[in-house]
Amino acid sequence: MAQDFKHASIIEGVRFTAQVGIPNVAQGLFKKREAVVGAVAKVPAEKLAYDLVAKLAAKYGPNPFWVRVGAEETLLLTHPEDIETVLGGSPSPFAPDPDAKKKGMTAFQPNALSISRGDLWANRRAFADAVLQPGAPTHALAKRFAALAVEAADQLVAAGEPVTFDAVNESFQRLTRRVVFGDAAADDTALTEQLGELMAAGNKMPGAPAAGYDDFHARIAAYVASPDPDALTGMIPSAPSDGQTDVPGQLIHWMFAMGDTLPANLYRALGALATHPTALERVRAEIGTKKLTTVSTVADSTYLAGCILEAMRLWPTTGLFGRVQETEVRWKNGEKTPAGTPLLIHNLFNHRNRDRIPFADRYAPEEWSEGTAGQDWSFNFFSHGPQGCPGAGLSIFLGQAFLGQLVITTTPTLQSGPKLSWATPLPYTFDIYATTIGLASL
Ligand code: HEM
Repeated sequence: MAQDFKHASIIEGVRFTAQVGIPNVAQGLFKKREAVVGAVAKVPAEKLAYDLVAKLAAKYGPNPFWVRVGAEETLLLTHPEDIETVLGGSPSPFAPDPDAKKKGMTAFQPNALSISRGDLWANRRAFADAVLQPGAPTHALAKRFAALAVEAADQLVAAGEPVTFDAVNESFQRLTRRVVFGDAAADDTALTEQLGELMAAGNKMPGAPAAGYDDFHARIAAYVASPDPDALTGMIPSAPSDGQTDVPGQLIHWMFAMGDTLPANLYRALGALATHPTALERVRAEIGTKKLTTVSTVADSTYLAGCILEAMRLWPTTGLFGRVQETEVRWKNGEKTPAGTPLLIHNLFNHRNRDRIPFADRYAPEEWSEGTAGQDWSFNFFSHGPQGCPGAGLSIFLGQAFLGQLVITTTPTLQSGPKLSWATPLPYTFDIYATTIGLASL
């Protein structure tokens, strides 16, 4: 017999909207607004959001339950099996293009894979998979990419200054232009700035390409037209593309995910290593005297990979993401939910759920390198299933080479920022803009 999913009360819905929904939107869904991120960190909004969702999950879970977000009844998922149902069933019947996401993304990437459905999604995904190679143990251009990442790390160290997120971000934007387009784009900072402006326009969810989009797209198309064999553009001519796939339009996602999202995660991992001496020692022992310009050294540093994945679990850059039902769905308890139902996955809660995760609030890289964290559908900083991030392997590989090189050539120290310690539960917020990390050369 069908059982109704439980409903949070109207007042709980108002609280959820205020404590979970609004802070997410206010910080900038696509381009972070630094001042708001700082203000939210001081509240601290992420802890309030965790506490609220934990309370609702205890009261209405473990099945999905309804919460009113704004004016919309939304299903909140907190159990890994339900998350598996939804992400395992994406993009159909659980479509990836809820209204707000689509309206925002259309400003800077109207033809993005991550807001596509049906054949369009399948074609764009086949193209992305061919170039990004998520299924391969290492990318065909891994040797070149490792060398570029090591070079970027060495340049940061050579500057001889403590690093801020801005410095790491700038370094990664350059690295990204070299990886995606090749050396001809290394100093094309204007291209990156154009993307930043378009993404800022996306925060307002205009539902149409922002001013300047056509010019930006044309500049990417020019790089695609002169493929560099040492960069991802070099793999495009042999990638499947059915004429419907807007090829330059696919690369936009790669630019911000590698140039902004990845360094944000690596900066947090560096902060964690600066405050967890045992983990730092393990990373150094794992790499030993080997060179991180060698593909196998990078790929074999699985504990180091765990250090990155664990920072992503603790402080996910995608705090909340959603799906919308394309059709009616019958759940395992018999309940049916209609087409158009919005669903939410709150990574911040699911990643730290103290009832499920014994290592919820501590830094535990070994859970990834030796444990089963990699198989747990609770952890969705890269999402999961058919629509899981196709850039995950490449991101971790670049991150291993970059972060590994930093910590075998320097000792990182947290000079300002969050209070992180292996001895106390880790905070929910790690404001990268308020953090400085010293790099003392070894
Ligand atoms: C640490 C860095 C990254 C994080 C945290 C991340 C996270 C994610 C997440 C959570 C999704 C699912 C989004 C959703 O369904 O709403 C996703 C999808 C995607 N990611 Fe990443 N990503 C990262 C790096 C990259 C890189 C470097 C690339 C490309 C070079 C990339 C390409 C994509 C694409 C194309 C999708 C859409 C997949 C689809 O809809 O089938 N990502 N990523």
